[in-house]
Amino acid sequence: MTQKFIKAAVIGHPIGHSKSPLIHNSWIKDYGLTGSYEAIDFSCENLKIGIDKLIQDGFSGFNVTVPHKINILHLCNSVDDLANIVGAVNTVVIRDGLLHGTNTDVYGFVQNIKEDAPHFSFTNGPALVIGAGGAARAVVQGLIQEGVPEIRIANRTQANVDLLIKTSSSPDRVKIIHWNEKSQKNYLSDVNLVVNTTSLGMTGKDPLDIDLEHLPVSTLVNDIVYSPLQTGLLLQASKRGNATVTGIGMLLHQARPAFAAWFGVMPDVSEDLKQRVLA
Ligand code: ATR
Repeated sequence: MTQKFIKAAVIGHPIGHSKSPLIHNSWIKDYGLTGSYEAIDFSCENLKIGIDKLIQDGFSGFNVTVPHKINILHLCNSVDDLANIVGAVNTVVIRDGLLHGTNTDVYGFVQNIKEDAPHFSFTNGPALVIGAGGAARAVVQGLIQEGVPEIRIANRTQANVDLLIKTSSSPDRVKIIHWNEKSQKNYLSDVNLVVNTTSLGMTGKDPLDIDLEHLPVSTLVNDIVYSPLQTGLLLQASKRGNATVTGIGMLLHQARPAFAAWFGVMPDVSEDLKQRVLA
């Protein structure tokens, strides 16, 4: 029996930089499936028309990236609890012409830490999260799910932390730290995990200004930025003996449940794929 040809895509604007076609097409090949995954550029004005076309063309679903992750929420026929909490849809499954939205960033963040730091225990102490944007929402939800007892958030703009706390699934576990006080001993000395969710430290952006002097050496440090792979934050952490987890795994792991939903196979993240995405 011939296999059904499965079509999937990533939509965004601009979309040329996306690594998702490389990731998904590698898996299609590796698992001997018949299908395709393409990058499609839809401007905001053409989002609804573009999606209707994907339905007509028989697509099984698509990933959603900047700037459509929030607007797509309103175009979905159903949105699961996770995507509602995170406030963004990054994966859509099309079934019988209807759009079902979910968010796999929470899974990607948690799985990256679990695979790269298998002995790390989320429940061992507070976490410090730097940033309060879209990525931070997924990270905070992951930390809540994994039982982190206290989540401290430092963000430049106070109003964005207030909003994140208001929509979080466990607001009483989240505490605000003033942006200029994130290096202070009283906030760092008992922290079990540090996560940078801002774009600071990314190639071409300002560095993240934080001093880890008061951090225990047992604390795990993670940056969701993966270009460069070893950010200033991770280099500072490694130099003083802290274990670190880079951001590339979050990108790769968030793609797995989406691929499984469309192609019916939960793919693995191989070292070879990681290297090809980083190349
Ligand atoms: P994403 O979806 O990638 O998280 P975002 O929602 O725009 O993107 O969030 C970007 C995060 O990086 C925010 O926490 C932002 O801080 P503000 O809420 O103050 O805007 C943070 N960020 C970006 N540039 C920054 C800078 N120069 N200094 C401090 N924080 C910055």
